[in-house]
Amino acid sequence: MYLTDEEKRMLDGRMGEGIRMAMDMLVAVGKAFDAEKMIKVSRTHVALSGQEGDTYWCELLVNGGARCLVPPTTNPSWDVKTLNQVYPVAEEKLELARRTEDVYRRIGATMTYCCTPELAGNVPTFGEHIAFSESSATPYVNSILGARSNRESSVSALASAVTGRTPYYGLHLDENRKGNMLVHVDAELDGPYDWGLLGWYIGMHAETRVPVILFEKRAYSWCRPTSEEMLYFTAESNTSGAMPMFHIVGVTPEAPTIESALGGNDIKVELKVTRENLKEVERLVSDPPGKIHLVLLGCPHYTYEQLKEVAVLVGDRKIQEDIHFWILSSFDAIELARRSGHLEAIEASGIRVVADTCMDQPCFDGFSGKLNLTDSAKCAHYQKRRGLPFVLRSLSDCIEAAVKGEVV
Ligand code: F3S
Repeated sequence: MYLTDEEKRMLDGRMGEGIRMAMDMLVAVGKAFDAEKMIKVSRTHVALSGQEGDTYWCELLVNGGARCLVPPTTNPSWDVKTLNQVYPVAEEKLELARRTEDVYRRIGATMTYCCTPELAGNVPTFGEHIAFSESSATPYVNSILGARSNRESSVSALASAVTGRTPYYGLHLDENRKGNMLVHVDAELDGPYDWGLLGWYIGMHAETRVPVILFEKRAYSWCRPTSEEMLYFTAESNTSGAMPMFHIVGVTPEAPTIESALGGNDIKVELKVTRENLKEVERLVSDPPGKIHLVLLGCPHYTYEQLKEVAVLVGDRKIQEDIHFWILSSFDAIELARRSGHLEAIEASGIRVVADTCMDQPCFDGFSGKLNLTDSAKCAHYQKRRGLPFVLRSLSDCIEAAVKGEVV
């Protein structure tokens, strides 16, 4: 693998042990994927998840003197101050959250604590080479914005933040960005929830392929899908599958025509999606309905537009007193909702909005074994690993269920 003189200095330890470890890991990844060289990245985003392995890696780099050359924005951890008052958790888990915050600050990360950096805070332009972890962000930056990132782990993205480099392979190369699967969608889609179901279904079948998606009828309410619809589509498709790149003909920037999206590739796999397939995803992901205890929205983080929609949908009604209802969002979307009067309306209903928090955190462990509700298949899927059963429904159904106390 070709390395520049500066990259060789990074690798042989002359620039410090932390940088050496980061470059060593990137070279290993590059060799595994037959990368011919390293390239510079202009942006990074790390999935700071509060998981101990990631934090340990960051500590290793910091203790070796590393600081970020391309400071990453960070995924959410959890708002310890707010949530620990409601759901006390074990001291060692609190300590891990503190350790994580401390070490990512010391390495020079930009502490956005948000899983939608591609909407605000870290938005790449067309053709930029970047290193992003976070399953929903990677397909969004590649497919919707036309930037170039592999499906990085939090560990490799942090190594890129420290060195400013990534191995030149995968989706950094033109030929790997072309479609090799055709998907015909014969279903009308109504909002982010339906796009999420579609993403889950396509991800299940696409695995690691690059699907080219064709709509048989106009499937979205606006002239183009909204950011929120694309967020849900990308979050779900890269969770049920490993799908960091797709094309929608006539919509995404590298697919003005079906020919340009395919780039001469032969199509070996075709898929047709109907409304019945989307209902199938809802059934597949959901546990049986009934009385609910927790409603968890905002995986990925709710945008300002979604918070506004919640305020409209709930109106002046109240949710049942024994239901915990949290919406996870970014600090800037929450502030905008506060200034615009929507946050007050949401909170008056009993729904609570919290920043900086991922649903996959120990503060929600107390709901283990009880039935819960979400509009995100990704949330339901992850939480099942923690023993939290979930029903999957649209936003409006989630609000109706919280007002009534049960989901049907
Ligand atoms: Fe965001 Fe955590 Fe879901 S990072 S997309 S809330 S799994």
